[in-house]
Amino acid sequence: MEGVVDFHMRKLLTKLGGYDLCVTEFVRVVDITLSRKGFLRYCPELLEGGFTASGTPVRVQLLGQHPKVLADNAVKAIKLGSHGIDLNFGCPAKTVNKSKGGAVLLKEPEKIFEIVHAVRQAVPAEHDVSAKIRLGYDDDSLSLEIADAIEKAGASSVAIHARTKRDGYNPPAYWEKIPTLKSRLSMPVVANGEIWTVEDAFLCQTRSQCRDIMIGRGALARPDLAAHIKATLNDQTHEPITWQDIVSHIIESSRALSKTHTPHYFSSRMKQWLVFLKRQYPQALSLFSTIRTLHSQEEVLRALHAELEAY
Ligand SMILES: Cc1cc2nc3c(=O)[nH]c(=O)nc-3n(C[C@H](O)[C@H](O)[C@H](O)COP(=O)(O)O)c2cc1C
Repeated sequence: MEGVVDFHMRKLLTKLGGYDLCVTEFVRVVDITLSRKGFLRYCPELLEGGFTASGTPVRVQLLGQHPKVLADNAVKAIKLGSHGIDLNFGCPAKTVNKSKGGAVLLKEPEKIFEIVHAVRQAVPAEHDVSAKIRLGYDDDSLSLEIADAIEKAGASSVAIHARTKRDGYNPPAYWEKIPTLKSRLSMPVVANGEIWTVEDAFLCQTRSQCRDIMIGRGALARPDLAAHIKATLNDQTHEPITWQDIVSHIIESSRALSKTHTPHYFSSRMKQWLVFLKRQYPQALSLFSTIRTLHSQEEVLRALHAELEAY
């Protein structure tokens, strides 16, 4: 998830467990092949065989409109160690859609076919090429064509965010629209959208008829959600992550980030994360108000240490 699920967040989420695969923030591809350094910025895990510290594979996600350039970038990412390639056809951001990447391509299933096909042809067969879509742009009238295009182009799987671009991120997610698409596809289908709790996960599986699910914002609101889902599936008990654990993680990643990124990077990502954490942890609201106006990393760190000591 662009702007928030970076290397440090993937490290925490996969340490807590439950995830079988992580996808990077989208890498926007315009007209050049990114350098090794460029890919490492999005996916430092490539230095470790493409795995997070706890061994979960990471897949680079590309977003763009030019089949050949996307294919060249896909080959490079695979050579660097990405576990397959994911193609983004779901991003609603205006800047991205203006340059014809992301969800705007949902209006053109044949263009989606060309992109997936070019990438599939270029990437060695043993590596997965997956696609991430929404049900459509303004409505879901092209959803069958989109799904067919992706399968015919040879994709290994498709993740369906069960809303249109017009729906944005507003609830509900229309999980019940997925079975019609799934029934005509032989590739695996992953259901996504509006999974915030263990109960949501099981309801989504039932309504979408998908075994595989993808968690977005729910992972930020409850970093141990996937672990809780897996524990429930396996009839095991689950020990929830505490607020102190979360604050400790923020402090730890801030130390690591201060070596490689600007203070602005750390503080904007942390603020964005706190917005999601508020859903589950009331303490996140007051911490957010405390740090909202702080600018220097020292001030923010002092506030974080004070938060830790308060519990
Ligand atoms: C801040 C933010 C950034 C996102 N960035 C990406 C991205 O880079 N790639 C992607 O495929 N989806 C991205 N998404 C969409 C999510 O992956 C997911 O499909 C969507 O939020 C619906 O799932 P949810 O209801 O579980 O959050 C993003 C969503 C948000 C809110």
